[in-house]
Amino acid sequence: MTLFDRVFSGNDAVYGLTEGAIDAAIAQHGEDKAVSFPDTAYSLPCYYSVTGSKVTTLKELKEALGVVKTLMTREKRLNDAFMSGVATALCAEFIEVLKYIDGAVPYEEPCYGHLADAVIRELGVPLVTGDIPGVAVILGTAPSVEEGVALVKSYQSQGILVTLVGGIIDQVKEAGMNTGANVRVIPLGKDVTAVIHVVSVALRAALIFGNVTPGDAGTLMKYTMDRVPAFVNAFGPLDDVVVACGAGAIALGFPVITNETENIFRVPKSLIVQEDVSKFNATSLEARDIKIKITNIDIPVAFASAFEGEIIRRKDMRVEFDGSRVDCAELVHTCDASEVEDHKITVVGPEVDEMEDGSKNSIAYVVKVSGKNMQPDFEPVIERKFHNYINCIEGVYHTGQRDMQRIRISHAAFDAGFRIKHIGEVLYTQVKNEFDAVVDKCEVVIYTDPAECTRVRHEVAIPIFEKRDDRLANLTDESVDVYYSCILCQAFSPSHVCVVTPERLGLCGAVSWLDAKATYELDPNGPCQVITKERPINEELGAYEDVDEAVQKLSQGALEHVTLYSIMQDPMTSCGCFECICGIEPFSNGVVIANREYAGMTPLGMTFSEMASMTGGGVQTPGFMGHGKHFIASKKFMKAEGGIERIVWMPKELKEFIADKLNATAKDLYGIDNFTDMIGDETVATDPETLVGFLTEKGHPALALDPMM
Ligand code: SF4
Ligand code: NI
Ligand code: NI
Repeated sequence: MTLFDRVFSGNDAVYGLTEGAIDAAIAQHGEDKAVSFPDTAYSLPCYYSVTGSKVTTLKELKEALGVVKTLMTREKRLNDAFMSGVATALCAEFIEVLKYIDGAVPYEEPCYGHLADAVIRELGVPLVTGDIPGVAVILGTAPSVEEGVALVKSYQSQGILVTLVGGIIDQVKEAGMNTGANVRVIPLGKDVTAVIHVVSVALRAALIFGNVTPGDAGTLMKYTMDRVPAFVNAFGPLDDVVVACGAGAIALGFPVITNETENIFRVPKSLIVQEDVSKFNATSLEARDIKIKITNIDIPVAFASAFEGEIIRRKDMRVEFDGSRVDCAELVHTCDASEVEDHKITVVGPEVDEMEDGSKNSIAYVVKVSGKNMQPDFEPVIERKFHNYINCIEGVYHTGQRDMQRIRISHAAFDAGFRIKHIGEVLYTQVKNEFDAVVDKCEVVIYTDPAECTRVRHEVAIPIFEKRDDRLANLTDESVDVYYSCILCQAFSPSHVCVVTPERLGLCGAVSWLDAKATYELDPNGPCQVITKERPINEELGAYEDVDEAVQKLSQGALEHVTLYSIMQDPMTSCGCFECICGIEPFSNGVVIANREYAGMTPLGMTFSEMASMTGGGVQTPGFMGHGKHFIASKKFMKAEGGIERIVWMPKELKEFIADKLNATAKDLYGIDNFTDMIGDETVATDPETLVGFLTEKGHPALALDPMM
């Protein structure tokens, strides 16, 4: 059989199954039965991306199958094979969506099945920073458990996001490997059709970040090929269905690497035979042109971004350090060059060996740095990265910051030889790696002696934190001479530009004005550039000729005007990875804000995902705006429309998170006490009528404001 025959026959087989499954579902439920995947605003995401039509009922699903049939041409040309591959993928999506009828939960631990829109938005920043350098799709059953696990681990140690389909899931489980989105190994499902759930991620990325018009299949495939660094590893023997799915992957630009040698012909850079599974990793990275940043740190356990989300449970921990109970601190301290001995690491106090198993202890580490270009403003920027550095250590867990950090070291890490001094090694190496433009010398002192920790915390760290907070409190948009642009997300959203000011951080929540400033100083040709603010047009709107010029240039002409403080007039664009989305609520003259973690309904009749789908991809959408959590309490939040008194609803969790600062701002701006009590949440209302009733009762100021549209 030729490869064409195999693709066509696999496609026909899946088509037959799909038709049968849809007919059976119609016979059982009737053709008006609703079909959908949970937590997505894109209907059947793959079908919608490719055709531009949404499918909501079994009847429409049946009609859609007719459209799929038109892709299944049978000439022996490459394009016919690719389109049959796409048709196979769409059939897989149809089969998968039937599993979700009536709100069923078809996948159970450890499998994920369909992935929510919010998951894709979370991937935005790590993908653009290269923190996640690629996405591997591993399909089938490895020749042995050891080879399968070794392959998965090899990607994991490179930070690559791994998705698993088929027998490999049981193999990984058999080996006792931890899986889950938090360690970047995501078992999708055991049926081959489950592979559609990762395809769905890639296609939604094009809609969410790329502003690709649904139905524009050409642009869609170009986007996935150019910007989604995915590839497939398929273990032989391959059946024709897998071969047909592989053709679909290649159509999207994802190379397929397999150890199958029979009835396969090779397509350069696309269909690659690699008989040696231990070389799958290298072959895949080369085929997809993925470069891995290697960090060699001299510690006895692995260090990789994939371990950032790893959690160490109480029963698995050897020791714990807990700033909420005992004196702890983490600090970057700028010193004179003569006071710093490069790469010196000192532990003052007991090592882990001398601490009781399962005990709670003090820890304080001071990272002393010196450098001609070092500025105290960079201290908090470097310090905030400690969380990420320490978390990347396999078997070590870190939360919190400043003097409230908490660290756990697992039994496994301890048994492997990991000690406190290695935390110093990690901090030293990473600070030197990432901040080499400003840090010439770096020395780490780690205190575990409780009295020393108390001294460092109260006499050294806290006074410095207080000084910094004063500086931050005085950092307003008016008090600085320049703003910064950030275009990191252009890797996925080609025309998106964030303008970062002291009072308006980047919408991802990860880039403050100080971060942007540091990024600029570290790399003057990098993603953050200076924007002057010498020619204001309208201070209420936050409109400047300088800002307009910068966004015009940085968006390659896609944007002409951007205001900093308005949601209605030339609002800032969104890439897709925003922490929150804000949208107009017409009945109350206010706005509703939803954060990405919130999965429920809002009074707009939309979920976060649905609100989020109203904007993104670097386009301006008056009435909807993506933003960071900390922007909510800012005096500049929607200043042009009246400011925070427009906020009428937020999920409870977000409201509580921001309450102190938001209340302080409301008091300052309008003299209102406990403003957050006036704001609705999901426990009060998820529809506009109940919400307006609540706001009326509370005397919410938005009701008296002019309508926004
Ligand atoms: Fe992306 Fe804006 Fe965050 Fe930069 S500041 S990483 S462009 S969302
Ligand atoms: Ni104390
Ligand atoms: Ni982004």
